[in-house]
Amino acid sequence: MTEEIHKGLAGVVADHTAVSKVNPESNSLLYRGYPVQQLAAELAFEEVALLLWNGELPDAAQKEEFRAFERSHRALDPRVKSAIDLLPLDCHPMDVGRTAVSVLGANHPLSEDSSPEAELTKAKELFAAFPAVVAYDQRRRRELQLVEPREDLDYSQNFLWMTFGEEAPEEVVDAFRVSMVLYAEHSFNASTFTARVVTSTLADLHSAVTAAIGALKGPLHGGANEAVMHTFEEIGINPDETREEAAARAKAWMEQALAEKRKVMGFGHRVYKSGDSRVPTMKQALDAMVDYYGRGELMGLYDGLEAAMGEAKNILPNLDYPAGPTYHLMGFDTEMFTPLFIAARITGWTAHIAEQRANNALIRPLSAYNGPEERHL
Ligand code: COA
Repeated sequence: MTEEIHKGLAGVVADHTAVSKVNPESNSLLYRGYPVQQLAAELAFEEVALLLWNGELPDAAQKEEFRAFERSHRALDPRVKSAIDLLPLDCHPMDVGRTAVSVLGANHPLSEDSSPEAELTKAKELFAAFPAVVAYDQRRRRELQLVEPREDLDYSQNFLWMTFGEEAPEEVVDAFRVSMVLYAEHSFNASTFTARVVTSTLADLHSAVTAAIGALKGPLHGGANEAVMHTFEEIGINPDETREEAAARAKAWMEQALAEKRKVMGFGHRVYKSGDSRVPTMKQALDAMVDYYGRGELMGLYDGLEAAMGEAKNILPNLDYPAGPTYHLMGFDTEMFTPLFIAARITGWTAHIAEQRANNALIRPLSAYNGPEERHL
């Protein structure tokens, strides 16, 4: 009998989930039933995190309780700082993020406690602790000192404060918050599925998140947001150029890249085939940053690549496409973009880890053997 192979598990429905619904037909994405565009327009990222974990929007008391919790768990753990300091400055920041989560897990008193209460506590702590990892890593690469968190700032304000050592303007904070909400959750993508596979063996939460970070690093998944910026850099960013000039160069670059059969990161999606539901909202945030920083030529590159890809292959941008230049304009180093994605996706991963644990079955598919027939020494 020849088995039917689902290469890349494409089209396979592996389990139920109540965390989010991706609907490729209507290009929509719901977190716990709420359209992500509405959440991005109206809620703090902290509220979206509570929605993903709890299944319902928080009431005033829950918001206040988490507000205090999150603000008191932001400082960089000295053991994590020591571990980061052991890592070379030229290693990828995703390696730093992966190591930091592993160190936090190894030191956590509730590490082996998988009760729902302990898991939620660990998830919230990780959510609160991770921005310091990203911020400190970018600063040490720039030979700058650690900046301590500030309890008077919200999550997004404080993230930018710890990274840049100055208070970010409202427009920038808002675009950052929107990116966090949009990156928070996306059903059974590769990293979330990785987290669920690890959880299905009954391993601990930090092991599942560490593994998920490994999956997110690749350019076919989270690494695409930084790859987009590398594309822009390869084409050449020239602030003195007009938008039209930049667009023309970008179009020519894309035509050449496609003629060479290159995959251009930031385009295409396994599930959405007629547009990523998150792109319009992220594009608005990018437009706001372009206006704020007065960098129209970057949009020339953006438009030129998008138009040429559309004309040649009818392949549309995914969320990473507008997110990359947005983070660039904010001042993040290109290699820090995917760690920003970790900070956001910790919410979705840990919501899925809880869901997997609550109704677990070991995830273990079959394979069709195509090696040599039985033979003997
Ligand atoms: N650049 C160029 N061609 C692309 C492309 C891209 N970004 N994405 C898809 N294609 C082409 C493939 O080459 C393939 O063409 P072919 O049929 O002539 O071989 C066709 O479109 C189908 O693509 P495929 O890779 O089979 O789709 P998939 O569902 O397996 O892959 C991705 C989805 C996301 C892995 C793929 O679109 C990709 O590699 N995109 C770039 C990475 C990226 O941005 N990832 C972030 C996702 S949110």
